[in-house]
Amino acid sequence: MSKKPKTKNTSLTYSLALLIGMSANTAVAGSNGLEPIERLGKKIFFDEKLSINRNQSCATCHVPGVGWVGDDPEINEHGAVYEGSIKGAFGDRKPPSSAYATLAPIFYADFGNRLVNDPEADLSIDPLFVGGNFWDGRATGWELGNPAADQAQGPFLNPVEQALPDTACVVYRVCNGKYGDLFDKVWSPNACMITWPNDIQGQCSKTDGVVDLSTEDRNKVERAYDRIALSIAAFEASSDSNAFTSKIDAHRAGFYDFNEQEELGRQIFRGKGMCSACHVGTPGPGAAPPLFTDFTYDNLGVPRNPENPFSIANPEWADPGLAGFIENVAGYEEYAHANLGKQKVPTLRNVGLGSCEAQEYSDDGDHGHQKGRGEGNKCITKAYMHNGFFKSLKSVVNFYNTRDTKTRCENLGIYDATEKVALANNCWPAPEVAANVNSDELGDLKLTEAEEEALVAFMMAMSDGYMEASHDDDGDDNGKRKGKDD
Ligand code: HEC
Ligand code: HEC
Repeated sequence: MSKKPKTKNTSLTYSLALLIGMSANTAVAGSNGLEPIERLGKKIFFDEKLSINRNQSCATCHVPGVGWVGDDPEINEHGAVYEGSIKGAFGDRKPPSSAYATLAPIFYADFGNRLVNDPEADLSIDPLFVGGNFWDGRATGWELGNPAADQAQGPFLNPVEQALPDTACVVYRVCNGKYGDLFDKVWSPNACMITWPNDIQGQCSKTDGVVDLSTEDRNKVERAYDRIALSIAAFEASSDSNAFTSKIDAHRAGFYDFNEQEELGRQIFRGKGMCSACHVGTPGPGAAPPLFTDFTYDNLGVPRNPENPFSIANPEWADPGLAGFIENVAGYEEYAHANLGKQKVPTLRNVGLGSCEAQEYSDDGDHGHQKGRGEGNKCITKAYMHNGFFKSLKSVVNFYNTRDTKTRCENLGIYDATEKVALANNCWPAPEVAANVNSDELGDLKLTEAEEEALVAFMMAMSDGYMEASHDDDGDDNGKRKGKDD
């Protein structure tokens, strides 16, 4: 990794690194409740008041029971992008899992042998971009030392998300909320000692609200806003979020044996299916449990989602992915074209969690599967890929298997080529972005029906909640984790 991007090496950075490190360890060891900063982050994550209309929190789009993504089956079945706090305001992508995002490396470009001062080095090699949060990596971690902390500063002010007009509004509502004391305690001394203007409530309920503050108070607000993000990231790094309690984890700990179908799936995942070329299943540094992503970027040739409201409003638009971000970064612009249409390899942890499809893959007497459904043990349709085109893991796998062997869906209007129509016609629509489509590792895998299903079964084994953690009333993990010995 050359070209190390500038990092603000604040003490905050260090404290976050420390916290995240600690949480990762306790998660593996079996945690005994959340640390104060993690509890604070959790309160903020679930607080709907932190949006312009007091109706949307992070958890609106990142619901734990369905794997920290959106849980509205109607939305998932169609456009797959979620409405913001303001009615009619939509983003352009499907929410990815917020869990496991803290473990992404800080965004960087890997120039391979261009690093080495070698006259023989192949200077034509384009760098491989790695890390960051978001489908396009733009939450780099360059500001606060962790991509998830940089990410957490976005939604509150994003007009198509929580839509508050000023960082001061977020800080005001946190400091004056029910858990204001906890914020002060965690970030003392006097983290909330800010003189607020009289009209702050009014300003914060307008999209163009302006909060007038002295320079000194403005600085305090900015510091508090960083601390809010770091608290959220600490929660996201906690054992509540990065739980590592799936069958895979139980298997690694030596007390779960994969059933025959899962075992077959595991072999195909690593072998014939080539999934682990990108969704790496081997332990990370320090024997960290596998995350099933290498944090790189690829264009799989996923078709556009014709029901995405943003696409409907902008018919010419195709999601540029990584290129849309790096074209604005000094030193990286020249690589934008080679990265057009590439999206981040997502973690596969919890992909099946809470989906109705999961039920088809649960064995009799399989205790772990009942956990983690939405309210009232409901199951939902989930949406997959950056634009939510796919509605089941089975069809995702079928796409990897047959992208290049099925016919192109012809004679369909661009608004008609949904997944449902494609499956009914046994065809695949054209890719959303035709450039840079990966044909090395997917497209014609020659998997049988049973092998496709085995892959799905193996992904279902990545759902947290198998090594059950019991929860107290507050929802905090109180650490009683029982392993199941099948
Ligand atoms: C209206 C829905 C919505 C809300 C509210 C929302 N998010 Fe997201 N979140 C998304 C979408 C969509 C993306 C992907 C955006 C992109 O890639 O351009 C995302 C991405 C993320 C990611 C990146 C995951 C990864 O691995 O790249 C994290 C972490 C995250 N959100 C956390 C949060 C937090 C924390 C909040 C509250 C402060 C929040 N989100 C509020 C929809 C939402
Ligand atoms: C060349 C790298 C690569 C390979 C090989 C690969 N994937 Fe992926 N995978 C990705 C990328 C990149 C995405 C996101 C693409 C997008 O959104 O456009 C993705 C997305 C997914 C998703 C959707 C996850 C979500 O949260 O929406 C699933 C499920 C998945 N892959 C499973 C598999 C399986 C199973 C295999 C093997 C048959 C496989 N992948 C092989 C790179 C890869």
